[in-house]
Amino acid sequence: MSEHAFSPDERAAVYRAIAERRDMRHFSGGEVAPEVLARLLEAAHHAPSVGLMQPWRFIRITLQGLRDGIHALVDAERISTAEALGERSDEFMKLKVEGIRDCAELLVAALMDGREAHVFGRRTLPEMDLASLSCAIQNLWLAARAEGLGMGWVSLFDPAALADLLGMPAGSKPMAVLCLGPVTEFYPAPMLALEGWAQPRPLAELVFENQWGERP
Ligand SMILES: Cc1cc2nc3c(=O)[nH]c(=O)nc-3n(C[C@H](O)[C@H](O)[C@H](O)COP(=O)(O)O)c2cc1C
Repeated sequence: MSEHAFSPDERAAVYRAIAERRDMRHFSGGEVAPEVLARLLEAAHHAPSVGLMQPWRFIRITLQGLRDGIHALVDAERISTAEALGERSDEFMKLKVEGIRDCAELLVAALMDGREAHVFGRRTLPEMDLASLSCAIQNLWLAARAEGLGMGWVSLFDPAALADLLGMPAGSKPMAVLCLGPVTEFYPAPMLALEGWAQPRPLAELVFENQWGERP
C-alpha cells in the first residue's frame, strides 16, 4: 500500500460514491442548500482540464419560464429521438429520460467560447475540451452522491436552440442539462438496465492487452 493512500474508511467512501452514483430522473422536490451547491460547483471546478484551459461554464437556472423552455426543448428532442429509433420507438417513449420539472436545481453545463485559442493537448484531439468538461461534471456527480443528492445528465436537446435561449455567445456550446436535488431513493442499478433498455457489459470484455481485441 502506498504511503500516500487514504485511510481504509476514506478509500471505502470514495469507491462507494463511485459505485452508488446513479443517473437520476426521479426527484422529490425540496431544495439544495446554498452552501451545498457551492461545494458541488467547487468540486466540479477542481476537475483536470487539458492545458488547464478550464473550459467549463455552469449556468444556474432559477427562472421558472426558462426551466419550462428547457423542458420544452428536451421534450421536442425526445420525440425526434423516438422517431429516429424506428422499431424501438415505443419502448423509448416509455422511458423516463429527464427530471427537469421535479429537480430542486437545474444547471446547464457548457463549453466556453474562444476554445480555438487553446492548442495544448488539442491540436490532434480538439474534443479534449469536452473531455475536460466531462471530468468536471463527473466530479459534481460524485460529490452530489456523497451529499445524498441525485443528479441526472440530460443530453436530449438542440444545442443551438438552448444556446439561444440562454443568451450564450457564438463559439460556446451547451453540453448538458443537469438535474440535481433530493431523491426518495437511488436506483440500485442503472435505470436503463432495470427497465431492460440495455445491459452493462462486464469489465473483462472491455480490457485488452497489447493489441485491440486481445484479452489477458
Ligand atoms: C454524456 C451522457 C449523456 C447522457 N444523457 C442522458 C439523457 O439525455 N437522458 C437520460 O435519461 N440519461 C442520460 N445519461 C445517463 C445514462 O443513461 C446513464 O449514465 C447510463 O444509463 C448508466 O447509468 P448510471 O449513470 O446510473 O450508472 C447520459 C449519460 C452521459 C454520460
